[in-house]
Amino acid sequence: MKTGIIDSDAEKIKVNSWNEWDPLRRVMVGRAKGTMVQAPEPAIIRDWPNEGFPKGSYGLVPDELVDAADEQLDNLVKILEKKGVKVDRPSDFDFAQEVSTPDWNQKSMFGCMPPRDVLAVVGNEILEATMSQRSRWHEYLCYRPLIINYFKNDSKMKWEAAPKPRLSDESFNKNFWEKYEKLSNEEKLIKVRENDLILTDEEPLFDAADISRFGKDLFVQLSLVTNKLGYKWIKNHFKDHRVHAVTFDNYYPQHIDATFVPLKPGMVLHCGERTADPELIRYFEKNDWQIIKAEKPSKTYKTLPRMSFCSPWLSMNLLSIDQNTIVVEESEKMQIEQLDKLGFNVVPVPFWDVAPFGGGLHCATVDIEREGEMEDYFPNRHGRF
Ligand code: ARG
Repeated sequence: MKTGIIDSDAEKIKVNSWNEWDPLRRVMVGRAKGTMVQAPEPAIIRDWPNEGFPKGSYGLVPDELVDAADEQLDNLVKILEKKGVKVDRPSDFDFAQEVSTPDWNQKSMFGCMPPRDVLAVVGNEILEATMSQRSRWHEYLCYRPLIINYFKNDSKMKWEAAPKPRLSDESFNKNFWEKYEKLSNEEKLIKVRENDLILTDEEPLFDAADISRFGKDLFVQLSLVTNKLGYKWIKNHFKDHRVHAVTFDNYYPQHIDATFVPLKPGMVLHCGERTADPELIRYFEKNDWQIIKAEKPSKTYKTLPRMSFCSPWLSMNLLSIDQNTIVVEESEKMQIEQLDKLGFNVVPVPFWDVAPFGGGLHCATVDIEREGEMEDYFPNRHGRF
């Protein structure tokens, strides 16, 4: 009889990951194949006239970009496996499908390169984020075969999905982009700090990649894809954690993992161009954390890969294999040298071809199992923290 209860020689799976640095045992790595230039929707604007995708058009990302990215992703898998890490990959999925809910119709989905955006692993739980773009509403489906397999093979795993959002027109501020682009930088930052951006607070919305895990403390960036109600939902959900809402001086905040990146207990890498608010910095200092200003990226906005919607700061989008070993993009020489001087063992891998698919090494991965338990790295309170 098929019961879903697995016999004793089945693979042992243990969903367990409390932070970004404990020894990595099992990880999901995304795929580029099938990724779409998203069809128009209220949340985003895509406009690449020189690539054959002027505003309003959509379709499969060109093969040569997909092949280059998948080669680098496969290479990352090999390197991780050589280090004894078990790697899982999402299965093929047709992202060119038109999708809908009773509230809307969307001409395309997106892809499955950045599983980090969709899945948050917090302790023994896998949480599927609401997501905040219509093209990404159904993205959890391509990870479901893996999640179900974990669930069947792990007696303790908790599996949760945040409330599915409606994403009706009320969830988005009308004409946001037009108005936002006309603001001065200072005016933009006022809006960023108040999280008065594209998303309204009609319903909870968040991407998993806006959550950064530091043991008992979770930091949630309010951003273009995470609203205040999304933060409230996360905070109320993780009752055993201290969950903090944070913003940075970043005009286009989206996902915290190229802005504020923990390296090991007591050390966090911080993007100098996207400064944290002084109270957050003080909280870290009061708990004896060193805040390291990340070195300059190798790329500028002008030299980013074709069709990339990420910033040069993917230079600090790292994957830790353990407290001493970090995977870093191989051309990020200054970042590598900095980490080297700090005593880390750096594993360089080529990865910039993956950027057009939504991110770097941290975005492309989700750690399913790391050793270790929940620990409190912040015994001292400060201000709102
Ligand atoms: N938006 C960030 C930047 O351009 C990139 C972070 C992407 N992270 C992710 N999980 N997809 O700097």
